[in-house]
This record gives sequence, structure tokens and C-alpha cells, in this order.
Amino acid sequence: MIHARITGTGSYAPKKIITNQDLEKLVDTSDEWITERTGIKERRIAEHGQGTSDLAYEAAKKALKAAGLHAEDLDLIIVATMTPDKILPSMACMVQEKLGAKKAAAFDIYAACSGFIYGMSLANAFIKSETYKNILLIGAEILSRFTDWEDRTTCILFGDGAGAAVLQRHAGKRGILSTHLHSDGSLGDLIHVPGGGAQHPASHDTIRKRMHFIKMKGNETFKAAVRSLEGVVQEALDHNRIKAEDINFLVPHQANLRIIQAMAQRLNMPMDKVVLTLPKYGNTSAASIPMALDEAVRDGRIKENHLLLFEAFGGGLTWASALVRW
Ligand code: ACO
Repeated sequence: MIHARITGTGSYAPKKIITNQDLEKLVDTSDEWITERTGIKERRIAEHGQGTSDLAYEAAKKALKAAGLHAEDLDLIIVATMTPDKILPSMACMVQEKLGAKKAAAFDIYAACSGFIYGMSLANAFIKSETYKNILLIGAEILSRFTDWEDRTTCILFGDGAGAAVLQRHAGKRGILSTHLHSDGSLGDLIHVPGGGAQHPASHDTIRKRMHFIKMKGNETFKAAVRSLEGVVQEALDHNRIKAEDINFLVPHQANLRIIQAMAQRLNMPMDKVVLTLPKYGNTSAASIPMALDEAVRDGRIKENHLLLFEAFGGGLTWASALVRW
């Protein structure tokens, strides 16, 4: 059976740290509230002048090195992001140029926090259909530039970062075993950025109304997340005819510790089988899964033949799961 196998991972987190105590000075909040309600202690913020493609490039270089692949060997570059440097050109083309991956096709996908799993699904399909052999998939975000630092309900949640994976053709048991993708556009206004697109292009009015920042109905999003994730995780187990206890590690999107704990509980999994980076990075949207994956691969927790379950939920709404034999 031909699958896409992840042969190298990499990640990059900007150096600048904003702690919960720092946020106490900006908005009416407390370390205690943020820790209790979200599990987040600090987040990384990109330097002035750093673009999302710069973060993506740093993560990509590490993933290519880990896979032992040169940029010229890449057939395709996919970047999952909702915070591109520009509307045009795509981030993937900007990363292609930085890497010198002359042979690769390049495009972005826009599925918010589920973007990396959506990308895994696409990469797997391209490889299974024998269209491409070597694919670079990146999740990268600079959410801090779209965060309203006067809005305590959102500014405590987000951080910046990038994670990358090289996916290559593999004939055997290892690799992406399944992906399940879902969307519900009727709930699009739970998390959105109202301004800056074709509907409400930038104007004095959109700036005055703070329409270029992420707006989120947190509590409704929370409930939708738990409901959807339970379904999509079960779907992965049923499809592969496996039980929760067969899974070695859960690699979840890092949005809220209570959501992650609910999933671990649902799978009857102790928290030491869950890869958790949320306390130090916050929610980095499409970057959160590849950053967590890279950390657990590099520190040796994830080993050959381990069974990994990925799950994510985000704006759109979108949600997804993937089962991987490492
Ligand atoms: N500090 C102190 N108090 C706060 C803060 C804060 N930072 N933020 C909100 N509050 C207050 C509210 O005003 C409210 O006060 P009230 O009861 O007087 O009205 C109270 O705390 C409770 O607010 P809730 O919104 O009900 O709090 P909740 O427990 O739901 O936690 C949170 C909020 C953390 C945002 C949570 O709902 C959440 O994590 N939601 C899911 C986020 C998510 O998964 N997003 C998906 C991905 S994001 C993407 O796609 C980019």
C-alpha cells in the first residue's frame, strides 16, 4: 500500500515571549484566570519585520534537513495559514523562493487551525495517486498581527510560530493511514476577521471599528469544538478498526487545555500520552500540530511504528483528524 510518510519535521518559535503577567498590564485579566480557563502561561511573538514566510522558512529548513532532502528535490510545497504575509502572492510561493525549490509547485490552504491536517490529507492524496513523491507541508502563523490587544477575550489565546513536515512516498505500513475532514460554513461567524477582504476592504471605517482583528465567540466555539472533535476522533477509530488504547500519542491542536483534556478523557488516555505545547506557545492555529509533533519527535517520545492520532478544530468552522503509523 502506498502512503505519504512523514520523513522529517521542523519547527520555529520566535524568541520574544509574552507571559500572562505581561498581559495583566495590557487588559483586565489575571494569570490565574488565563491558566484556569485555557492552560496557557506564555506565548511567542514575532519580531517587528519578521513575516510569516520567515517563520515558515526556518521550520522548513529543519524539516528538510531531518528528512535528508534538498529543496530542489521537492515536487510540491503547501502552506497552511490564515495569516499570510500578503494576499498575493501565496505564502507557499514565497517559501519556495526562500528555499530555492525551483521544481516545486506551490500553493496555500486556508482552513484555520485545521489547516495542517487538511494539508496532510491533500499531500497523502497526491502521493497515493503517484502525482508527487516529495512534498513539504508547513503550518505557519503570525496571529499577533491580527490580535486585538485591547480585547481580553482573544488576546490571551494566540501566539506565533511555524512547524513543517516532509512527506514522501512510502510503500509499506508506515505513514498516513487515514484523514477525515469536515466543515460547517453556517457557523463561520464564531471565529472570523470581518475586515480586509473583498467584502470590507481596508478603510478608515474598518480600522476605526477594529474589523481587521480576530473576533471570536469563545464559549460557543468551545462547545462546538468538543462536540465536533469527539465525532471526528471516533470516525478515525472506526474507520481503522482500532481502539483508543491502541494509540500511542494524541497530537492535538493546541487551543485550550480543557478541550484537550476532554478529548484525552474521551479516549481514556493519560495526559502523558498527549503532546502538549499549549502552556508555552498558546494557540498558534495551523502551526500548533506540526510544532507539537516536531517537539515530541526530537525529544524521542515518538518512536518508529507508534500510532499517532491528530485532531484539530478551527475557524470556518473546520475540524479534522488523521491517523498516522510513525
Ligand atoms: N480575563 C478575565 N476574565 C475574562 C477574560 C480574561 N482574559 N476573558 C473573558 N473573561 C470573562 C468574560 O467576560 C465572562 O465574564 P462574565 O461572566 O462576567 O460575562 C467570563 O470571563 C466567562 O467568559 P466565557 O467566554 O464564558 O469563558 P470560557 O470559560 O468560555 O473561556 C475561552 C473563554 C478561553 C475563550 C474559551 O471559551 C475557549 O477556549 N474557547 C475555544 C477557543 C477555540 O477553540 N478556538 C478555536 C480555534 S481558534 C482559530 O481557529 C483561530
